[in-house]
Amino acid sequence: MSRQVQPFLYFLLLKSVLILFACCERENNRDVNWPDYDPSPLQLEIPPGFPPAIIPADNPLTQKGVNLGRKLYHDKILHIDGLLSCSSCHLQEYGFTTPGSAILPHINLAWSRNFMWDGKFNMINVNLEYVSLFEVEDFMQTDVSRLIEHEHYPGLFHEAFGVKEITSREIAYALAQFMRTQISGSARYDLILAGGIGTPVFTGQELWGYELFFTEKGDCFHCHGNKLFTDNKFYNIGLDSLFEGSNKRLYLTTGNPDRSRKI
Ligand code: HEC
Ligand code: HEC
Repeated sequence: MSRQVQPFLYFLLLKSVLILFACCERENNRDVNWPDYDPSPLQLEIPPGFPPAIIPADNPLTQKGVNLGRKLYHDKILHIDGLLSCSSCHLQEYGFTTPGSAILPHINLAWSRNFMWDGKFNMINVNLEYVSLFEVEDFMQTDVSRLIEHEHYPGLFHEAFGVKEITSREIAYALAQFMRTQISGSARYDLILAGGIGTPVFTGQELWGYELFFTEKGDCFHCHGNKLFTDNKFYNIGLDSLFEGSNKRLYLTTGNPDRSRKI
């Protein structure tokens, strides 16, 4: 090897070693700054009389998971063009819907077994995680790389799920955890039923309505009977005697003329 080439080779070797160190140092620094994985559980406050909540074994509620879900829910970063967050349509002050729209409210979803107006997500394996994944991947078309490159999100996902790389699965899981905390169980009606000193009581008309609702007279309780006011099933309540396909909800149920009259 000539004398001129040798120093040059040494230089190259040194440089590549330096580059190697520099890159690893940067990687390590990033990891080191992440908060530790913290799966501290969060206990849902289930209102009295509610059935057990549906919580899949692979996504138990944790404090960090719910906090992350709340942050994501309000962040337009999830939208492909950065225009919308979940809360642009699902407004908290209106039960997480927009009044007068077809946007479904997010209330007591921890007890839902089928989702969307047409109940299209009603298969046996469907849960809130499944629907959230649909919202993230298909509806918002989230560009996950934006979260991966974000200043704070990688650390928050590590803290909540112990993952080094964010995928749409963890995004959906965090959102599902947050949505499970959106519980309505302390309305005036609930307080009245709970009873006790200082709680409100029914007015005369309310009591009348209550009786109608929960007896054969009004006959509402057969379908709206439990504390959730829904039994999670679809019924033909006779809104359309003849289905003509103009009602999105009915039409999308199955397309079968008989089923499609049911809601
Ligand atoms: C542009 C408005 C809009 C945005 C933004 C939006 N949604 Fe929705 N959401 C809707 C509408 C409309 C429906 C009902 C759709 C249907 O039935 O076909 C719905 C339905 C749902 C449902 C089903 C509720 C049920 O009871 O069946 C869930 C869960 C949901 N959205 C979650 C989300 C999440 C999570 C985000 C953010 C990642 C989000 N949505 C963003 C409009 C929106
Ligand atoms: C056979 C079952 C059944 C009976 C009985 C029944 N409902 Fe319903 N109810 C439904 C279904 C199914 C829907 C959903 C319809 C839809 O969204 O298209 C509904 C929707 C409603 C809604 C609208 C809820 C919302 O979020 O928009 C109200 C209010 C309501 N019912 C009140 C009553 C009252 C009051 C009675 C008794 C007089 C009654 N229902 C009896 C099945 C029933």
